Amino acid sequence: MNISPAKRVRGTLHVPPDKSITHRALILSSFATGKTTLYNLLECNDTLRTFEILKRLSVRFKGDFERLEVIPPEEFSTPVNPLFCGNSGTTARIVMGLLSSIRGFYILYGDESLSRRPMRRVVKPLKRMGGIIMGRNSDENLPIAIRGTKLKGTYHKLEVASAQVKSALILAGIRAHGKTTVEEPSKSRDHTERMLSYMGANLKVKGNMIEVMPSEVNGIEFEVPGDFSSASYFIALAVAHPNAEIRLEDVGLNETRIGLLEILKDMNAKVEWQVTKSSPEPTGWITARTSRLSGVEAKGEIIPKMIDELPLLVLLGAVAHGTTEICDAGELRKKESDRISTLVGNMKRLGVEIEEKVDGFVINGPQRIRGGRISSMGDHRIAMTFSIAGAISEEGVEITDPECVQISFPNFFDKLKEVTG
Ligand code: S3P
Repeated sequence: MNISPAKRVRGTLHVPPDKSITHRALILSSFATGKTTLYNLLECNDTLRTFEILKRLSVRFKGDFERLEVIPPEEFSTPVNPLFCGNSGTTARIVMGLLSSIRGFYILYGDESLSRRPMRRVVKPLKRMGGIIMGRNSDENLPIAIRGTKLKGTYHKLEVASAQVKSALILAGIRAHGKTTVEEPSKSRDHTERMLSYMGANLKVKGNMIEVMPSEVNGIEFEVPGDFSSASYFIALAVAHPNAEIRLEDVGLNETRIGLLEILKDMNAKVEWQVTKSSPEPTGWITARTSRLSGVEAKGEIIPKMIDELPLLVLLGAVAHGTTEICDAGELRKKESDRISTLVGNMKRLGVEIEEKVDGFVINGPQRIRGGRISSMGDHRIAMTFSIAGAISEEGVEITDPECVQISFPNFFDKLKEVTG
């Protein structure tokens, strides 16, 4: 895929539905009492893995991803064959929490990248609740085998802020004996808590702590908002390009997701947004246009709120005036690729000087983005970040393996074409 420098960036866009919320809507409605109707679900490789697994567990679906009825089974069935999570960490980790509390025997496995990603962070706390789970490399990696059983409510203090781990433990807690408490070092995305409360679960949120009691949940009607993470590629393009103005409609603006907007304000970017609907998920519009960006420091509590957008902040750091420093972001090494080393390697290939840290980056700007040839390493967020780099570069960017955008944003290149002409 060749991305040429864009002369002008203009347009009003609807981005695809939110990936995190789609996974949760499918999984949570699969054990509700009564039918759920879901609107505007994201159909991409990752969410299809969750959908296929739920079908194998006897959850019934009617309709398509624009309007889907979910009919929970009387009892989940035990599939004869292992369940494939593909490239999707959200599927593997959240489904693990669900299955460890449901009687039956299950094996989860994934593709090469997912099989390298850490799983002990979920397995260990689930075992403390009485979970019977065994995984490769002393529980660190998939494949993982689960014998579902009755769990006991437990207090968990997480070492890393991870919405996937938190969600797995909340789902395990919902069917356990007694209270389950999950405390995070800083707040990660709270879509699971919001949706479960909306479904009537007995769940309390106190700062970074969530308490969940055994609960029945009810079927709901729910529409998934646009994905802020998908919108962020176009926000970054607009603020970094010399002739740009973009408006994004019906985008999720949940506070635990929009750290990038806060950081952009600190960088003096011309971005505006407004929430037009607040429950159960804040949704609204965003506008972004050509800006003279200043360097910024991103560390601490804001990092989990923009974890998937950090690759874009690295790119923006290169064009901003002054130093941009990103710290406390060691989790990036545990994503679909080691995003710290993939970003540093690829930025250098485009002619940008950048310093690699164990848990982040230092970039002095502004620098020219010359252009060149890069590999996404099969990581969708790297492919999309370097497409934006291509559009603001001097000579364009060639991406050798662009197909991975299917993982979260199937029509990404069409949308990019639409706004860059
Ligand atoms: C996600 C949580 C984050 C994020 C991922 C989606 C989720 O991962 O990076 O893309 O849907 O819960 P962690 O829980 O590993 O931080």
